Amino acid sequence: MTYSICVIGGTGAEGSGLALRWAKHGHRVTIGSRDGAKAQAGADELNGILGRDALRGLESAEGVAAADIAVLTVPFAAQRSTVEGLKEVLAGKILIDVTVPLAPPKVSRVQLPPSDSCVVAIQDMLGESVRVVSAFQNVSAHKLKHLDYEIDCDVLVTSDDKDARQIAIGLAADAGLRGVDAGPLANSVVAESLTSALIWINRIYKVPDAGIRITGLPVAG
Ligand SMILES: NC(=O)c1ccc[n+]([C@@H]2O[C@H](COP(=O)([O-])OP(=O)(O)OC[C@H]3O[C@@H](n4cnc5c(N)ncnc54)[C@H](OP(=O)(O)O)[C@@H]3O)[C@@H](O)[C@H]2O)c1
Repeated sequence: MTYSICVIGGTGAEGSGLALRWAKHGHRVTIGSRDGAKAQAGADELNGILGRDALRGLESAEGVAAADIAVLTVPFAAQRSTVEGLKEVLAGKILIDVTVPLAPPKVSRVQLPPSDSCVVAIQDMLGESVRVVSAFQNVSAHKLKHLDYEIDCDVLVTSDDKDARQIAIGLAADAGLRGVDAGPLANSVVAESLTSALIWINRIYKVPDAGIRITGLPVAG
């Protein structure tokens, strides 16, 4: 199954890598930005890597309106205001939120917001008309644009909607990653918190992209 996906903040490190991988798989991907020209420049760069005109760039509101699935990849400080501005066009859609509630400069220390999970706070704000999924928080942007690179990290996928969870697990696979059903959206706080520990581990062990693996699962046949 292929989807029409708009990556909000797809001009950035994490969003552009996911967008590229999904476009390579055959999804119809739009780079969303606050600035349409910046979005198109981002899409042009990714098309150059891909070697074909598969992605387009639009202002996020226009891109989300035309998409089946929106993916949010903006800094935590911009998460709430960005979603507030897109509330109307998000209605009826799936929103995959990749946000990690980092509070610079101490990004290697967990500093959860008052709501604990920043993604749960977005579901509460949007209400039932949007099916919010949390995923990809532990996947470093470092090698996402290296299309042949096998990223050594599982993706914890949480949502209160079972079908949306399965769709996001499929999108993880389409990006070359293993998505793991990690339950209701309340469990998103686990993935959101883990990222600070991974940033710490990167620094201590002098590596660029420490990741996580869930053990004990059946090997996919
Ligand atoms: N980088 C990673 O390795 C990584 C890994 C896992 C999760 N994450 C999470 O993914 C999200 C994106 O990370 P990133 O590293 O890709 O971020 P980024 O490159 O700093 O920013 C992504 C995009 O967000 C938009 N943006 C930036 N500041 C904004 C503001 N004040 N208001 C509205 N939009 C703004 C910009 O898009 P426009 O200017 O085009 O609108 C920017 O290109 C974050 O929540 C991060 O914690 C990142």
